Amino acid sequence: TDEAADATADTAAADGDAITIGFAQVGHESDWRTASTKSCQDVFSAANGYDLQFVDCDNDSATQLEAVRGFIEQDVDYIIIDPIVSTGWDTVLTECEDAGIPVIVIDRTIDDSDKYVSWVGSNFKTEGLAAGEWLKAYAEAKGIEEINALVIEGSTGASAAIGRTEGFKEIADREGWNIVDSQSGDFTQDGGQEVMESYCKSYEGKFNVVICQNDNEAFGAMDAMKAAGVSYGVDGDVILVSFDACTAGLEYVQKGEINADFECNPLAAPFVEQVIKQLQAGETPEKEVYMEEHWYVNEDILSEITVDGEAQPLTVVTDDII
Ligand code: AHR
Repeated sequence: TDEAADATADTAAADGDAITIGFAQVGHESDWRTASTKSCQDVFSAANGYDLQFVDCDNDSATQLEAVRGFIEQDVDYIIIDPIVSTGWDTVLTECEDAGIPVIVIDRTIDDSDKYVSWVGSNFKTEGLAAGEWLKAYAEAKGIEEINALVIEGSTGASAAIGRTEGFKEIADREGWNIVDSQSGDFTQDGGQEVMESYCKSYEGKFNVVICQNDNEAFGAMDAMKAAGVSYGVDGDVILVSFDACTAGLEYVQKGEINADFECNPLAAPFVEQVIKQLQAGETPEKEVYMEEHWYVNEDILSEITVDGEAQPLTVVTDDII
């Protein structure tokens, strides 16, 4: 809202003190998350003139609300939230607004309140659409006529999971694919392994695609498939698709064990710093900032896919990229 935008902190910077920022981070569930935390710690360092109060909320919504209220009590200059779930935010964001503390949301979205200054992140539905469009083009190129897909979703209620599910399902419905099952692996390696172990038992020989909504789930799913004697990747029976494109994920793409990996950019902090600089200068930042992302494959049998009517390049992973 305009009030939120106007609620520029009482500029500690103006008198030369550090700018205090409270960051309520989701947790430490994935490689992506580690990169996101490091990005914020690097940008909002003491050397750069910031005092960063960091709370790892361990994937617990109550802890995250408590962290935000703690920042209000400390009267920090700005609050950064990466919302674990997309709802249940309006009351606490009103409290931030009443306290005159601007909130910047990163990565996942808040869907039941607009009482924040700016959001910086990814279009998760587009990521899901891209995975679907890539699978369609790949299956056609390889002469695969029937798709029986198992989905390992991210954390329930997280906009990253909701958007990727919606996007992929839109293409699956359009193409008449069979989604055999779709369960949450909570964005963790253990979760991905557990769900895949149960899928391998329940659906032996009945699937040819596995969609993991992040790389860590894919690592767990690979372990489970190996143990169950299911072959996957470029030379296997099962097409494995992942999201995030973290370093380890891209190494598996290069080896041909993951067929395609759809990037989710974790490096929001430099964009957040821009927002803070604009607020310090009394300017109104953009309400939504989308970060640039790429889609990575092992083989160049396809050079691009069409998503939402627009041709988009695919990037073949090489040593330079990793
Ligand atoms: O919200 C972004 C998602 O959360 C990333 O895909 C995943 O790795 C993380 O845990």
